[in-house]
Amino acid sequence: MKDTADYYALITGASEGLGKALATELARRKHALLLVALPGTGLPQVSSELTREHDVKVRFFETDLTRAESPAEIKKYASEQNLKIDILVNNVGIGHGGSIGDYNVSSIEESVFLNMRCTTLMTNTFIDELKQRRKAYILNIGSFGGFLPMPHKGIYSATKSYIYHFSLAVREELRGTGVSVSVAMPGPIITNSKVKKRVALMGFVARSNVIRADRAAAFIIARMFSGRALIIPRYTMRLAYSVGACLPYWMLKIILGRLFKGVD
Ligand SMILES: NC(=O)c1ccc[n+]([C@@H]2O[C@H](COP(=O)([O-])OP(=O)(O)OC[C@H]3O[C@@H](n4cnc5c(N)ncnc54)[C@H](OP(=O)(O)O)[C@@H]3O)[C@@H](O)[C@H]2O)c1
Repeated sequence: MKDTADYYALITGASEGLGKALATELARRKHALLLVALPGTGLPQVSSELTREHDVKVRFFETDLTRAESPAEIKKYASEQNLKIDILVNNVGIGHGGSIGDYNVSSIEESVFLNMRCTTLMTNTFIDELKQRRKAYILNIGSFGGFLPMPHKGIYSATKSYIYHFSLAVREELRGTGVSVSVAMPGPIITNSKVKKRVALMGFVARSNVIRADRAAAFIIARMFSGRALIIPRYTMRLAYSVGACLPYWMLKIILGRLFKGVD
């Protein structure tokens, strides 16, 4: 095996979807990987596939990231195995939709624990190690929905807004260290059947803004390495971001409310 990478990129939620695409893009760039996802969901197979196809070292750790103990357990495993981390990708996240009063406790907990608590704990747990590197990266995966309060997707958009603000604040705190923090705020990405269904229900606006996971990953990783603070894949989404910034909220809330009503 070509042992080109001494350092590992740690990616949460890497067994499928955008996480797997980000792992594949980093493997293509010959970066060693430490992948994390739930037990029994194909992580060993994804790891051997990436090793075979890209000739890089891939390790995996199976855990439920809704558990508060998981980040410390991952850190312990990485230290025991002498895996030096220089990239932390906080990708894991969940996008339940609904109106307040409709959510059950487990979907609220999953959204808050995965999107906010896990991202925060992982960053807090690994920051000292990342600071030891000459150059290191934190990439947090938010969502375009995090730019605005979104009726009928309120918990999701609020948790992604947290990721946006948290990332930019931490970026400033780390200015002058070798750690660069980026936040990606993508629009719809075709990652799983639920997203496909959601995009179909949301109609023309969503359909004309979707991006393939491999394309989104290539764009995001290139910009992460160039040290960008905010990363928005796809030209139309960057345009929507600029136009949205000029529209009054009363107009946006009508558009957004119509877009997400009845979409899970
Ligand atoms: N898809 C989109 O349209 C879109 C748009 C904007 C932002 N995003 C964001 O991009 C990120 C990835 O989304 P995705 O669409 O790729 O999701 P996905 O296809 O559902 O994949 C989620 C990944 O997270 C893992 N995971 C889920 N629950 C977990 C848990 N409790 N513990 C450990 N791992 C867990 C899954 O692993 P298992 O196989 O183990 O379940 C899977 O690897 C999320 O943060 C999402 O909010 C997605």
